[in-house]
Amino acid sequence: MYYIGIMSGTSLDGIDLVLTCFNDQPKLICSVLHPFPSTLKQQLLQLCQPGNNEIELLGPTEQQLAQCYAAGVAALLKQANITANSVAAIGCHGQTIRHRPDGQYPFSLQIGDMHTLAMLCQIPVIADFRRKDIAYGGQGAPLVPAFHRAVFQQAASRRAIVNIGGIANVTLLPADSDRPVTGFDTGPGNALLDNWVMHCHAKPYDENGSFCSQGQVLPKLLSAMLADPYFAKPAPKSTGREYFNLNWLLPFRPERFKAADVQRTLCRLTAQSIADSLHSSRLQQVYVCGGGVHNPVLMADLATLLPECTVSSTDALGVDADWVEAMAFAWLAWAYQHQVTGNLPEVTGASKACVLGVPYLP
Ligand SMILES: Nc1ncnc2c1ncn2[C@@H]1O[C@H](COP(=O)(O)OP(=O)(O)O)[C@@H](O)[C@H]1O
Ligand SMILES: [Mg+2]
Repeated sequence: MYYIGIMSGTSLDGIDLVLTCFNDQPKLICSVLHPFPSTLKQQLLQLCQPGNNEIELLGPTEQQLAQCYAAGVAALLKQANITANSVAAIGCHGQTIRHRPDGQYPFSLQIGDMHTLAMLCQIPVIADFRRKDIAYGGQGAPLVPAFHRAVFQQAASRRAIVNIGGIANVTLLPADSDRPVTGFDTGPGNALLDNWVMHCHAKPYDENGSFCSQGQVLPKLLSAMLADPYFAKPAPKSTGREYFNLNWLLPFRPERFKAADVQRTLCRLTAQSIADSLHSSRLQQVYVCGGGVHNPVLMADLATLLPECTVSSTDALGVDADWVEAMAFAWLAWAYQHQVTGNLPEVTGASKACVLGVPYLP
């Protein structure tokens, strides 16, 4: 039986869909990046910020998002030339519109009407992966480390997996599989780079790092940014675009500098905050996944800042860097159906390991 994973992250660059199977090692059979219609993307961006009359916007947006996910599933099945009845389940992350794991009443909200998705696809959907971990006192994030452990851990190798989406997160895989796997969100991944290139050039992202490659790192600006308390905060910790966005950047008065120098500094900020999170672990190998692998300036910064280890993309391990996160949510659906726990308490801070997810049946 096949499993489908659907992931749309904080970057809102599109919906990642994968068709997988988990017989022996996880296998990627087929993948699709399905676009958001521009009106839906605007609605989602609006819901990511506090505003007026949010419920009237939320309801229809959940329906439209489910229809968009279902269209992505149809495209995936067509490309793979298989029918819905050979798919055991869809693991659907949903779209995070708010992530506040640290208040007196912590919560994380992923939207998308999963009943509609199950109905349209005629496939069981497993969703709502984060809230049980939060109920047990965890951050509800990151959830990919259990999958990273299942796929990438190797005896006698001290490895880290670094996922650079809108936000970046790390998973530290010890050489001894009896030792706990740790991990957390390091802070911004591509989010601030996307925000600044949009602000300056109305482009959604800095394609192949061409904007940042025209600039120089501004050391004082970099130190001021690195002084943000999130970077020094001990794990468990997680964050989102409600924190690292243009409103975070503007108080540093970036307009004082050459725009490309600001972009270059934001790129170094991502690399430096990741490297600082890894230094103490005496790693041998760092494998990167997520959209950040396509920014050569960012990848070169990471390699420079981590001279003690090899830095490469997860492609080197035979798992395409663009699809690791969607595969993780397909795996979480598999884990739900096999009653395998999906959170790592050492990572999220939850008081116990739990089977994650809620089923929505057609
Ligand atoms: N060719 C590229 N050059 C530079 N950056 C890229 C490229 N392709 C993707 N990215 C970056 O990756 C981001 C998407 O990464 P992704 O892992 O999908 O993040 P998320 O999980 O937040 O959706 C884009 O917003 C962009 O910043
Ligand atoms: Mg994405």
